[in-house]
Amino acid sequence: MTPAVSTVDEVRSAVAAARAAGKRVGLVPTMGALHAGHAELVRAAARAADYVVVSVFVNPTQFGPKEDFAKYPRTLDADRQLAADAGADLVFAPTPAEVYPDGFVTFVEVTQLDQVLCGPRRPGHFRGVATVVLKLFNMVQPDVAVFGAKDAQQSIIIRRMVRDLDVPVAVQVEPTIREADGLAMSSRNRYLSADERAVAPKIYEALRATQARAAGGEVDVSRLESSLHAALAAIPGARVDYANILDAENLTPVARLDRPALAAVAVFLGTTRLIDNVILG
Ligand code: PAF
Repeated sequence: MTPAVSTVDEVRSAVAAARAAGKRVGLVPTMGALHAGHAELVRAAARAADYVVVSVFVNPTQFGPKEDFAKYPRTLDADRQLAADAGADLVFAPTPAEVYPDGFVTFVEVTQLDQVLCGPRRPGHFRGVATVVLKLFNMVQPDVAVFGAKDAQQSIIIRRMVRDLDVPVAVQVEPTIREADGLAMSSRNRYLSADERAVAPKIYEALRATQARAAGGEVDVSRLESSLHAALAAIPGARVDYANILDAENLTPVARLDRPALAAVAVFLGTTRLIDNVILG
């Protein structure tokens, strides 16, 4: 099992010792409930760095009042085992009071990029993500931090924050890891009923069909968006939160596929909200 620490002082001294030994430090920020997708992020961090810290913190500031903060799975012992097996050296699992001490009033906002896709549907979410990720970067002071492409908007926002605020961390984004039937791995998949789990792979099928249409020469983004939306809406029990195709770097609208675009979707199956995406072009 990976050793675990919970205070900033502890993680800093462990990282300082690694650095004094000439090691490059990697960080994989997580909210725990680790699965095979996280294991790939840890393995990627272990390839990019010599000393890998996995942070486990269910960050209250990125959950809305009606979201699943209270029921979000907390599985620290299993997380430490998975982290160890994937090559992590340390788990940093701070308490809420360590991250947000009394009197905490400072937040990071990455404007514009938070005004599309999940942003308007989850007010304050990306402010919470950017704030905690910057804090984790300052606490751990890694050379490289590894994120998953499933959370495409999150990665774009973190990259921009790092660029705009001159944060000395290399941000590495790893491809989405999927179940054998195509469903993107997510800690929230465990909320799905058997019926919901059975239809969930159709989300990725709809995205793949959009990719195939684009590869087949369709360049009109509103037509691609409509067919993507229709395919998602046809999934039994699904409610489409959004299905949008945007510039893959700036998340600005695109009318024609004349540059790389992100096809991103959020779909409710029952009360579980799943996100996924593919790149077009
Ligand atoms: O992707 C996640 O698990 C979280 O949003 C992150 C980056 C760990 C911040 O809490």
